[in-house]
Amino acid sequence: MSKELSENQLSYIGHLQLDRLLSCLQPLSTHPEEHIFITTHHSLEIWFKQLLFDLKRIIAHCDADELGQVNWLLKRVAEILRLAEAHWTVLETMSAADFLEFRGRLTGASGLQSRQFRELEVLCGLHEIAGEEYGRRVEDAWPGMIAGTPRTLRAAFFGVIARSGHRPEDIYRNRWRQFDLFTLLEGVFELDRRVAAWRQSHILMVRRQIGMRTRGTGGMVGQDYLAATTRQLFFPELWELRHDMSADAGGEVVAAGEPKK
Ligand code: HEM
Repeated sequence: MSKELSENQLSYIGHLQLDRLLSCLQPLSTHPEEHIFITTHHSLEIWFKQLLFDLKRIIAHCDADELGQVNWLLKRVAEILRLAEAHWTVLETMSAADFLEFRGRLTGASGLQSRQFRELEVLCGLHEIAGEEYGRRVEDAWPGMIAGTPRTLRAAFFGVIARSGHRPEDIYRNRWRQFDLFTLLEGVFELDRRVAAWRQSHILMVRRQIGMRTRGTGGMVGQDYLAATTRQLFFPELWELRHDMSADAGGEVVAAGEPKK
C-alpha cells in the first residue's frame, strides 16, 4: 500500500509524466506484434535524446579542457550505445512472418525520418567529413540542422588535441603518462565503433525481417543505402592511425584499394 502524498509532494506518475509518455503507444493494426515494434522505436528515440543531451555536455567540457568530465560521460555514452544495439535482438523475436502481416500499415513511416538520429550524426560532425552529398541530403530533409549545430564533437575533440600540443600517435605511445588524453582518444573511438556496430546489427535485423533487396518504407533499398552508411565513421583518422601503428610495429599494410594477394 503506498503512503498518501501531501499537497507539496510529487507523485511518481506526475514527475515522470507517465500518462503522457505511455499514451504514445498507439498501434495502427490489431496485430499483437506491433506492440514490440513501437516499443523498440520509442525506447531507441528516448536513448537518442539522452545521447544528444550528454554529447552536448561532452562538447562543452572539451572546450573547457575538462577531461575528467569528458571521459566520465563518454563511458556512459558507450554504455548507452551498447544497450541501443541490444534492442535489435529483442526486436528479432518478432518473426518476419508476423512483421509482414502489419508492415503494409506503416505506409511511408521509416527510421530514415528519425530527426534525432540525424542530429546525432551531425552533432558528432559527420557532415564535416562525409562529403557534400551527405550535407545536401541532411539539409533537404532538415533545413537548418547543420547551421544550427555550430560546434561538433569532432571539432571539440580536435580542439583538445591541438591545445595539448601532442599528436594522437604520440599520445598512444605515451599513453600511461598522458592517461587523460589517451582515455579521450579511446572514448571517442569507442563511440564511433559502437555506432558502427549499431548500424551493422540494424542491417542484420533488416535482412532477417525483409531482406536486403526489398525497398524500405522510406524508399531505400537496404543493400545500397544501409550498406553504404556502414562506411560512415566520425573519426576515420583514428581508424586510419591503426595502419600507421601496425606499419611502425613492422606489420605489412597494403595501400588503400590495392588488391590483396
Ligand atoms: C522491422 C524493423 C525495421 C526494419 C525492417 C527497418 C528497415 C529499415 C530500412 C530498409 C531502412 C532504409 C531506409 C528506408 O527505405 O526505410 C532503415 C533506416 C533506418 N532505420 Fe530502420 N528498420 C526497422 C526498425 C528500426 C528501428 C526500431 C529503429 C529505431 C529508431 C530504426 C532506425 C532507423 C534509422 C535511424 C534509419 C536511417 C539510417 C541512416 O540513415 O543511416 N529502424 N530501416
